[in-house]
Amino acid sequence: MDISVTLRGQTRDLVLKNPVLTASGTFGNGLEFTPYGDLASLGGIVVKGLSLEPRPGNPCPRIVETVAGMLNAVGLQNDGVEVFCREKLPALPWREVAVIVNIYAASVDEFARLAARLDGEEGVAALEVNVSCPNVAHGGALFGQDPLQAAAVTRAVREAAPRKHVMVKLSPNVTDITSIARAVEDAGADSVSCINTVLGMAVDLPARRPALANVVGGLSGPAIKPVALRCVWQVARAVKIPVIGVGGIVCARDALEFILAGARAVQVGTGSFIRPDCAFSLAAELPAACEQFGVTSLDELRGSLRLD
Ligand SMILES: Cc1cc2nc3c(=O)[nH]c(=O)nc-3n(C[C@H](O)[C@H](O)[C@H](O)COP(=O)(O)O)c2cc1C
Repeated sequence: MDISVTLRGQTRDLVLKNPVLTASGTFGNGLEFTPYGDLASLGGIVVKGLSLEPRPGNPCPRIVETVAGMLNAVGLQNDGVEVFCREKLPALPWREVAVIVNIYAASVDEFARLAARLDGEEGVAALEVNVSCPNVAHGGALFGQDPLQAAAVTRAVREAAPRKHVMVKLSPNVTDITSIARAVEDAGADSVSCINTVLGMAVDLPARRPALANVVGGLSGPAIKPVALRCVWQVARAVKIPVIGVGGIVCARDALEFILAGARAVQVGTGSFIRPDCAFSLAAELPAACEQFGVTSLDELRGSLRLD
């Protein structure tokens, strides 16, 4: 069964051999996972969030396990875009698998400079814009919580990277996710991925302290799958551009549920912490799962959720 997918964008399409991507921040730069499977068997690899300059991230503890998930406040630690382009990207099999670079910045101008730098890299198929970060130049509110700010970033990245597919990653920590999705579509996004982590907190009762040094963090894993499914369903009905589902996906059945709700592709995040071969086995098992659930093509399944 052919499970290839084309994410038809407003400016650039993204062709994937299958709909299984890895989620940013949960799969390193991809190379760390080569002992667990063939990177080229995936639809795409979304690498750890990159910034213009290297960042040390937050103090520890910054990861804590929760019921059916985990909380993290890693703080977007990374080596910066130059180290990635010089040392990591050339080692990735980018001719065989789509390499999608997740980017974040503290201002619209910084987003544009980062996007322009990556636009010249042949090995980068797409940019995933993480708008779940504070706009320092605008009082620290998150770009992704304000349709105007989210649109401004999208427009800037779109203009700075005309050769790349631009995917905007939406935050669930908003009152109405569809208003943000429509704003970034109008600003030129080629696709949207949803969702980023859900804001949460854990406490250490004996110590009477927060479990994370940062006090609050992002909840991920199977615990957030119902939230992610709801967001994908709402967003897929609100926009025409492709939606990529992410949040608690750990098996082929989960992936098919997201596609049924309207997703064109999916990302595996915390699943790779549970089992490092998770994304590889999910991609391998997808054709058999389609057969098991009577799915004749992913196009036929997508968005066919019955409401009667
Ligand atoms: C440890 C960790 C680091 C993450 N880092 C990033 C990041 O750099 N950029 C980003 O857009 N999302 C980041 N995320 C969010 C994931 O990509 C994903 O959206 C989220 O975890 C929900 O999917 P999951 O439940 O499958 O993990 C991170 C998640 C985790 C758990």
